[in-house]
Amino acid sequence: MSDEAKLGELLLYWYDSNARTLPWRGTRDPYRVWLSEIMLQQTRTGAVERYYLRFLERFPDVFALAEAPLDEVLKLWEGMGYYSRARNLHAAAKRVAEARGIFPDTVEGLQRLPGVGPYVARAVASIAYGLPVPALDGNQMRVLSRCFAVERVLKTPFDLEPEALSCLDRERPGDYNQALMDLGATVCTPKRPSCAECPLSPACRAFALGEPERYPRRPAPVVKREEARTVFLVELPGGVAIRRRPEGGLLGGLYEFPSVEGHLDQAKAGAALAELGFTGAQLLGPLPPAKHVFTHLVWRMTGWRARAEAAPEGTIAADAGGLRKRAFPSALRRYFELALELPACRTPGDEE
Ligand code: ADE
Repeated sequence: MSDEAKLGELLLYWYDSNARTLPWRGTRDPYRVWLSEIMLQQTRTGAVERYYLRFLERFPDVFALAEAPLDEVLKLWEGMGYYSRARNLHAAAKRVAEARGIFPDTVEGLQRLPGVGPYVARAVASIAYGLPVPALDGNQMRVLSRCFAVERVLKTPFDLEPEALSCLDRERPGDYNQALMDLGATVCTPKRPSCAECPLSPACRAFALGEPERYPRRPAPVVKREEARTVFLVELPGGVAIRRRPEGGLLGGLYEFPSVEGHLDQAKAGAALAELGFTGAQLLGPLPPAKHVFTHLVWRMTGWRARAEAAPEGTIAADAGGLRKRAFPSALRRYFELALELPACRTPGDEE
C-alpha cells in the first residue's frame, strides 16, 4: 500500500470511533449539508450548532427558507457575522425552490449558487453525493501540509490539491473530508498539536522531523486597515435613533446607530449631530470605547449619548422591542446593550 493510501486508511479508521457528534452529521440531505457548510465557513462549530438547529426548526426545507422574508433570515443569523452569507443563502434557496427544490449535484453546478465557493461546493458534493473531491479548508491544509511536510508557501488551501487527491478515499469522500476537519480541530491543532494521540503520526513527515508547528508555511499576514468611528446613541421621543445600512456594502441591510468617521471630541460631536440632520440635539455624555475586528478591517469606536427632538429622514426611533426585532451587527453589540438601558428604550411591557 502506498504511503498516501495508508494515510487515508489510518484517518478513516480513527474517524469511525472518534468522529465528533454534530447535528449535521448522519444526513446526506443536500439542504442540510449546504446550510451547515455555509454556517461553518466563518463561524466556530460550537456556535454553529445552536444556529443550525434553530434555523432548521424555522426553515425545515429549502421552500420554507425561500418563502421567508429576508429580514427574518437576517434576524436568525444575528450574532454569526458575515451577513452576506445569509443574503446569499436566501437567494440560493429561492433559486433551488424554483428548480422544484432540487439542488445541483455537481461541484460546478453547486458553485453557480449564490454564496457557494469551491470549498462549500466540494464539501456538499462529497458529503451529500459521495463525489470524490477534497474539501480543502484551513484544517485540511494544516493536517496535510504537516503529513507531507510541504515546504511550498501556501496562499490558499487549494494549493494542496495534489496532496489531498493523493490520499482521498474514493469510497467515502464525505467521511474522509470530515475526518480531516475533525482531526484538524481536535488533534492537529495550530498550536501544540497532540501528536501522541494522532492516528497519522506514524505516517506524518512533520512529526518525524520533530517540528509539526513549522507547517503550513504561510505568506506574511496582511495588515488590517484601522478605522476610527464615533457612534451616537441619540434618544428621541419614542426610542433611540437607528437607521438601515445601505445594501451591498459592509454589513449591508443591517441596522445601526448613526455614526461618523473619526473619534470626535465634544464640540465636533455636537456639530456632527447637526450635520447628520438631528434637530434640537444635545450631548449628554461620552460612551465607552469598543473595538471590532473584521476580516480586513478593524473598527475602533468611541461614542456619545445624546438627546434630540427630531431625526433626519431615514432614521427612526426604536424602543427595546424595536431594537430586539431588528438585525444588528455584532460589531455594535456593546452599544446595542447600552441602548437597551436608555430611558427612551424602556417602554412599559419590557422585561425590566
Ligand atoms: N467545518 C466545516 N465543515 C464541517 C463539517 N462538516 N463538520 C465539522 N466541521 C466543519
